[in-house]
Amino acid sequence: MRILSIILLALSLWSCTKTIENPITNVDDLGLIPKPQSVILEKGAFEFSKTTKFVFKNEAHPNIQVLVDEIGMSNELSTEDNSEGNIEFITLDTDSLHSSAYFIDIAPNKISIKSKSNEGFFYALQTLRQMWPDTLLVSESYILPAIKIYDYPTFEWRGSHLDVGRHFYDKDFILKYIDLLAKHKMNTFHWHLTEDQGWRIEIKKYPKLTQISSQRKETIVKKNFDPYIGDGKPYGGFYTQEDIKEVVAYAQERFITVVPEIEMPGHSLAALAAYPELSCNGKELEVGTYWGVYEDVYCAGNDSVFTFLENVMDEVMELFPSKYIHIGGDESPKARWKVCDKCQARIKEEGLKDEHELQSYFITRMEKYLVSKGRNIIGWDEILEGGLAPQATVMSWRGEAGGIEAAKQHHNVIMSPNSPCYFDHYQSEDIDSEPFAIGGFTNLEAVYNYNPIPKELPEEFHKYILGSQANVWTEYMPTSNQVEYMAYPRLCALSEVVWTADKDRDFENFEFRLERHKARLKTWKVTFRNNN
Ligand code: ACM
Ligand code: ZN
Repeated sequence: MRILSIILLALSLWSCTKTIENPITNVDDLGLIPKPQSVILEKGAFEFSKTTKFVFKNEAHPNIQVLVDEIGMSNELSTEDNSEGNIEFITLDTDSLHSSAYFIDIAPNKISIKSKSNEGFFYALQTLRQMWPDTLLVSESYILPAIKIYDYPTFEWRGSHLDVGRHFYDKDFILKYIDLLAKHKMNTFHWHLTEDQGWRIEIKKYPKLTQISSQRKETIVKKNFDPYIGDGKPYGGFYTQEDIKEVVAYAQERFITVVPEIEMPGHSLAALAAYPELSCNGKELEVGTYWGVYEDVYCAGNDSVFTFLENVMDEVMELFPSKYIHIGGDESPKARWKVCDKCQARIKEEGLKDEHELQSYFITRMEKYLVSKGRNIIGWDEILEGGLAPQATVMSWRGEAGGIEAAKQHHNVIMSPNSPCYFDHYQSEDIDSEPFAIGGFTNLEAVYNYNPIPKELPEEFHKYILGSQANVWTEYMPTSNQVEYMAYPRLCALSEVVWTADKDRDFENFEFRLERHKARLKTWKVTFRNNN
C-alpha cells in the first residue's frame, strides 16, 4: 500500500512537471477571425513538435498539405491507430451536423479534429493555423492552448468579387487573393472577367476577344467629370484558359468556388470593339478608356448575338464547374435598342411592352440556355426590371431593395449593397490621406455591423438570402497592392459578418482580435490598411 502511494505520488509529480500551462487566459488573445461559434478554454496545452503525427481515421482525408506547407514543418501523415501525442482526424457520420462544421479539441495529450466533410476539416485547419505563432520560423516545437471549439458558418455564400476588367492583375495575384479568402473561411470568388474597358478571358472560338478586346489604347487619368486626359499608355492583359484552369484548381483545393461573370447586355464595349456586328448599329468602336456606363450594348434583336454568347458560355462552362454563372445585367442603357429596327422587331414579335421587357427577354433567353446545361444564373438587381428570369439569383447592389423584392418573389439573393459592401469606397472621411478612390465612405465598423438579413424582410423569406460578398471595383486601383489596401482589413470584418452568428458579433471585440490578426496579415504579406 505504501509503495503504491509512493508510486502514485511520484507519477503525479512527474505529470505536474510535464503539464504545460495554458499560455492564454482569454480566448480573444488568440485573435481568431472569423470568430468561431463556440470556444471554451481548458487547462493545459499541447506541445506540437516535429514528431507529432497527423493521424487520419475512418476515411478522413483532409487537405492537410495547405496547413503543413504554411507551418513549415514536414510532419508525418499516418493512418495508424495511435492518437496519443498526435493530431487525429475523425470523420463524423451525423445527419444533424452542418456539412462544413468542425470540432477541435486540443488536450495536453492529443488534438482531435472532427468533421463530416473535408471542407469542415479544412476550416478546422485554418483555425488551427491561427493558433500557431504569427512568424512561422521553423522551430523545435509550438505550444498550442488547450481549447474546445465547435464551429460552422452562418451563411452559405461568403464571397468577394474582383473586377479585373478595369485593371488587370496577374494570375499569381489572383491565387494570393483566393488563398487569403480561404484563410478567412470565405468560399466564393466572383471573378468579374469582362468589362467595357477590357475582356480578360481567352475564348478560343473568338480570338479577337484577346487580340483586340483585352487591350485599350490608354486610360483616363482622373474622373469622368474632369476634362478628359488620357495617360497615353496602351494597357491590357488576359488570362489564358490554362491560367484559368490553374486558378480554378487552386481554389477548389481551398474549398472556394470561382463564379465567373460575363457581362451582358451592357458593359460589353470591349467585346463590341472586336465584333461590332453584335451591336445595334454595327459602327466601329474602341475599347473603353474612361469609366462609367457606355451606350453601346449587345443588340437584343440579332440572333447572332445569342449564338456568340452561347458559344462563349460553352467555353466558360468548360472552365468553371460552378453551379452559378454570373451574367451581369446591370447598367445597360436602352438608347440603342430604342432606335434599332431589329430590337424593335423583337419587341413586337415577342409581345413585349418596352425595352425593359426586352432586357428581361435577353436574360431569360440566356438563362434558358444555361439551365439546359445544368447551371443557374446570377444577375445584378437590374434583372428585376421587366420581370425576373424564372430561376435567377439576384445580387443586390443598389441597396437592399432589389434583394428584398427578389426574396419576396422566392428567388435566391446575395446581398452586396454598395454601402457597406463596395470596397472601392474610401475607408476614411479624410480622403486626402487616402489613395485616390471612386468616392463614398465605408469604414471597418460599417462593414462589421452589417447583417445580410434585412430587418424589414419577413422571416418566411430569410431562407432566400444566401449570404453576402464584397465587391472590389478597380477603376482607381491600378496595382494589386492597392486592391489589398482596399480589401483588407474590411474583408476580415466581412468574413465575420457571414460566418459568425449576428448575436455573437461585437465590433470592439473584433477590433481587439484584429490587432492580433494583423500580425498574420503581415506574415502573409498583405498590404492592408493599418490605421483603423
Ligand atoms: C455595379 O456596381 N454596376 C453592379
Ligand atoms: Zn438592336
